Amino acid sequence: MELISTTRRLIEKVSALRYDQKTVGLVPTMGYLHEGHRSLLLRSVAENDITIMTLFVNPTQFGANEDLSTYPRDLERDLELARHAGVDIVFAPDNDQMYPDGSATWVEVDSPITTVLCGASRPGHFRGVTTIVTKLFGLVMPRRAYFGEKDFQQLAIIRRMTADLFLPIEIIGCPIVRESDGLAMSSRNSYLNPIQRRKGLYLSRAIAHAQELVRQGERNAHALRTALVDILPDDPEMRIDYIECVDTLTLQPLETLTCSCRLILAVYVDTTRLIDNAPLTIPTTETKE
Ligand code: PAF
Repeated sequence: MELISTTRRLIEKVSALRYDQKTVGLVPTMGYLHEGHRSLLLRSVAENDITIMTLFVNPTQFGANEDLSTYPRDLERDLELARHAGVDIVFAPDNDQMYPDGSATWVEVDSPITTVLCGASRPGHFRGVTTIVTKLFGLVMPRRAYFGEKDFQQLAIIRRMTADLFLPIEIIGCPIVRESDGLAMSSRNSYLNPIQRRKGLYLSRAIAHAQELVRQGERNAHALRTALVDILPDDPEMRIDYIECVDTLTLQPLETLTCSCRLILAVYVDTTRLIDNAPLTIPTTETKE
């Protein structure tokens, strides 16, 4: 496995791979890898000749009061995990490589999918994501790129951007990987102390509760949301950012659940913001609204 830290070396390496007609899979990450990342890496290794993982804590996707300075980092451990997963190249640039002096181009998806949910709570976040992902796509020009479904809105926005810019890259969404107790894996889980971690289980329990209510026949999104708010523990450390039933493609909130519906939620446990989501399965035989 080769560790590359400059765009120049990466471009050289990628040109040689293209000359050799190798298919390249790209797994963009911000490091502090967990089993969720490993599942993306293993899938890319299985589907491509070469897997390039990027490791860059992208400053432009963090808001002024967010956790850029405290974002967890452990390069040695990440390199070990990547090596074991069969990664060929790790690209770990610094800020000056990705945003050199004079860099002035932003990529922004101008659509309601970017302004709802996390877009409403974290202004500018998705502009930072789409800008860095476009830069990484430009450098690597992969055949396939792999993203986790935990960031369901990010995945939808990246799909939109890739289609709009006619980028010949297949975007592959991979299922959420969970701890044995249901907590969706996230690098930010490391911020939680054991008591907070237990509180974080609210998200996966809310999903299970919603799925059960839907199974029993609930189709009203407002009623479902109210039922989930009702089971939030009465705890000053916990605060709902959003809970919505959205259309799987447009991410717009629904009033009545349809057969293409996803429950998506963001909840603070103290200052740690946790996100999760899951499909709400409605039989396709039911009339679509
Ligand atoms: O999902 C992430 O870790 C980041 O948003 C990404 C896609 C690596 C861009 O910085």
